[in-house]
Amino acid sequence: MKDERLAQSRRRFMARTLVLGAVGGSWTVTHARAQSGNAPALLPTPAQAEGPFYPQREPADADFDLLRNGSREYAKGNAVWVEGVVLDLAGKPVRGGAMEIWQCDADGHYDHPRDGSRMDPAFQGFGRVTLDGEGRFRFRTIRPQPYVGRTPHIHAKVKLGRQTLLTTQLYVEGDPGNARDGIWRRLSEAERASVTVPYVNAADGLKATYRIVVRA
Ligand SMILES: [Fe+2]
Repeated sequence: MKDERLAQSRRRFMARTLVLGAVGGSWTVTHARAQSGNAPALLPTPAQAEGPFYPQREPADADFDLLRNGSREYAKGNAVWVEGVVLDLAGKPVRGGAMEIWQCDADGHYDHPRDGSRMDPAFQGFGRVTLDGEGRFRFRTIRPQPYVGRTPHIHAKVKLGRQTLLTTQLYVEGDPGNARDGIWRRLSEAERASVTVPYVNAADGLKATYRIVVRA
């Protein structure tokens, strides 16, 4: 009888220890996460080729508005707001960073000698903005156009001081050229989703919103 009670007591003790151990274990994990503020890491935006048409020298006009180059207005193509946010892997804004974009005009020409310097002089072709306190950027430009061998895309760089954090390319969701584009196809499904967004009609016109994630 005594042996039986001892055995029961021992089983209860073991069960309690197991429960406490499990609770303790999960608390440790939760507590450790809360302590370090560890949100699950975001998927970094994939790096893509710079390509041959990054400006050789800083253009005189390099602001957010690619539809106005100096005093000239560009009226071709479909005007669009290209905007979004640049975050680090923990989801925090990259404060003080800069976002650059460059792209061809509505006829598929870049502002570059390698492309015959044929870009329409009214199109700015390149722009740079400083990210705001929330990591946001906003450009006025045209919906990217296809050119021989490429689906529509906008080239982009994220910089912090002199350091380039990311060079990539941004795409238009639903464009039939994407599936034929070797550079786009090279991306995984998740990577494609991160750089390919819908161009939608908003209150202030056509708009595309990208979330860029960099190792900062
Ligand atoms: Fe390009």
